[in-house]
Amino acid sequence: MPAQALWLRCEKKQFERRAALTPSTAKKLIDSSFDIYVERDPQRIFDDEEYERVGCTLVENNTWDQAPLTTPILGLKELPVSTTPIRHTHIQFAHCYKNQAGWTDVLGRFAAGGGTLYDLEFLTDANGRRVAAFGFHAGFAGAAAGALAYSERKNNGRNLGALEPFENEGTMIDAVREKLGDDAREVKALVIGALGRCGRGAVDLFKKVGLKDDNILKWDMDETAKGGPFQEILDVDIFVNCIYLAHEIPHFVNHDSIRAAGSSRRLSVVVDVSCDTTNPFNPVPIYNINTTFDAPTVDVDVGPGNPPMTVISIDHLPTLLPREASEQFSTDLLPSLLELPQRASARVWVEAETLFKEKLAAAQAFKLSA
Ligand SMILES: NC(=O)c1ccc[n+]([C@@H]2O[C@H](COP(=O)([O-])OP(=O)(O)OC[C@H]3O[C@@H](n4cnc5c(N)ncnc54)[C@H](O)[C@@H]3O)[C@@H](O)[C@H]2O)c1
Repeated sequence: MPAQALWLRCEKKQFERRAALTPSTAKKLIDSSFDIYVERDPQRIFDDEEYERVGCTLVENNTWDQAPLTTPILGLKELPVSTTPIRHTHIQFAHCYKNQAGWTDVLGRFAAGGGTLYDLEFLTDANGRRVAAFGFHAGFAGAAAGALAYSERKNNGRNLGALEPFENEGTMIDAVREKLGDDAREVKALVIGALGRCGRGAVDLFKKVGLKDDNILKWDMDETAKGGPFQEILDVDIFVNCIYLAHEIPHFVNHDSIRAAGSSRRLSVVVDVSCDTTNPFNPVPIYNINTTFDAPTVDVDVGPGNPPMTVISIDHLPTLLPREASEQFSTDLLPSLLELPQRASARVWVEAETLFKEKLAAAQAFKLSA
């Protein structure tokens, strides 16, 4: 049987340094008779040579369109916006299955080219849990950014400046501890979705930088069942939203609840890790852009005379810890990648393809009815 080929494409999203395949997981695939092609990518946290050393074939940056149509293309973030039909099979996060902005255009490109999308967000195990997710490091990094933003506002009266990826978890913790100083003992944070991957990461960061356990409110389904908006959110310094939004729910916090709190509001930073920015059911509808590492915060309209408040809505937070986040994700994805040669019958791939076809049909029906 010919070897299974797999092509790791470059990432075109600014500041994205992570990789869906790391040199160590590429090596494991090669040991299982895969041919791995890797686009050269100066943006990636792993050097091209690291892939070359384990036996990958290096190819030019952004040349996946010239790969044989039988070769699946692996990437992380969405492809740049375009109308070019997509002919290949892509394994990536496409952010188009939940009616996000432009979802029909993205799926329309696959329809036009006859390509297939296996969306990484929807590769699930037999229990319906995602096989690989960046959640933990997203929550961890988001909480770190939130603590830094809180401190910058409190001590210097300014919004947080540009963020750079950290070498590793230890350097991130040290940086936040140093910035918070003695304030760490007094800071109050509320994490919603605290039982999930992102939520656990956020709680872990807050503990590691010295917040008191009692000052970290950990909410999940039980606590939000009463329906928002929640006064409790307005009574902490940092609110981190980490839920997985599956359907419409009452707002957690909104412009009305912020204005009603007036000048007595304690909340100064919201980190929306979930980042359902363009989702019509976003339960944190107080901002409408995704922020970036060079400008991590967006000001909230809080009404005249009220204390300022900012949102961090970066949708690729694990990039702040690119090496560790990539290693963890890629290791979790590996068992599914090893099943690629049997993807016509392997459950994880069959289900992902069925879902793609459903979404494709929904997009076509939506366009016809528009
Ligand atoms: N910003 C980023 O860089 C980034 C990175 C990774 C993931 N994410 C996003 O973060 C979100 C969470 O991902 P995850 O992997 O942690 O998911 P997860 O499924 O592991 O956890 C989600 C948690 O949210 C809880 N939840 C769901 N609805 C809730 C509600 N109404 N009230 C209270 N709790 C609720 C669930 O019970 C669960 O504990 C996803 O939307 C994901 O796309 C963002």
